[in-house]
Amino acid sequence: MFRAIFAQDQFGVIGNNGKLPWPPHRDDLGRFRYRTMGSTIIMGRKTADSLARPLDGRRNLVLTRNHHYQRDGFETIHHLGGLDSDIWIIGGAEILRATELFWSEFHMTIFEARIEGDTYFLPDMKFWKLAHTEIFTGEPINATYLHYKRVGYK
Ligand SMILES: NC(=O)c1ccc[n+]([C@@H]2O[C@H](COP(=O)([O-])OP(=O)(O)OC[C@H]3O[C@@H](n4cnc5c(N)ncnc54)[C@H](OP(=O)(O)O)[C@@H]3O)[C@@H](O)[C@H]2O)c1
Repeated sequence: MFRAIFAQDQFGVIGNNGKLPWPPHRDDLGRFRYRTMGSTIIMGRKTADSLARPLDGRRNLVLTRNHHYQRDGFETIHHLGGLDSDIWIIGGAEILRATELFWSEFHMTIFEARIEGDTYFLPDMKFWKLAHTEIFTGEPINATYLHYKRVGYK
């Protein structure tokens, strides 16, 4: 099963200048860690390059077209075939767009702010039904956690 997890501002900004565009958000990061721990995570090469090290306790796969890409603690893949069943797609925008058709569900955090950024992702909401919502009020930014399940395909 492919699932996705990502965070954005109110207008779909997910990244800026190769990094996350907001200060570390403990509550959101804790939920991300809890959900993905023990699983396989797949990220785009640009997202992998933004990380100082692989995420602990998870199998870190990097999707790239570059057959020479290598990094300690990361496994390189060039397509999505032949993978385990418990997979989280963790961004960025290009890999989210490339895989949306294959997700059975996704978790999206929306930060209650307008945040400057250069990378956007907005899911195609025709195919999703809201399954669960939680609100976080506090520092550094209020957030809404949304869990969507698939109801249709293109
Ligand atoms: N807010 C969030 O939840 C979140 C999560 C993750 C990342 N981000 C942010 O998003 C930004 C990065 O996103 P991005 O869209 O620029 O890049 P990205 O999706 O992280 O990586 C793009 C790269 O992935 C590879 N790729 C993508 N689709 C592929 C495919 N179908 N087959 C093979 N390789 C493929 C290519 O690598 P090669 O060029 O090596 O071929 C491509 O250049 C950063 O600012 C990051 O901090 C935000």
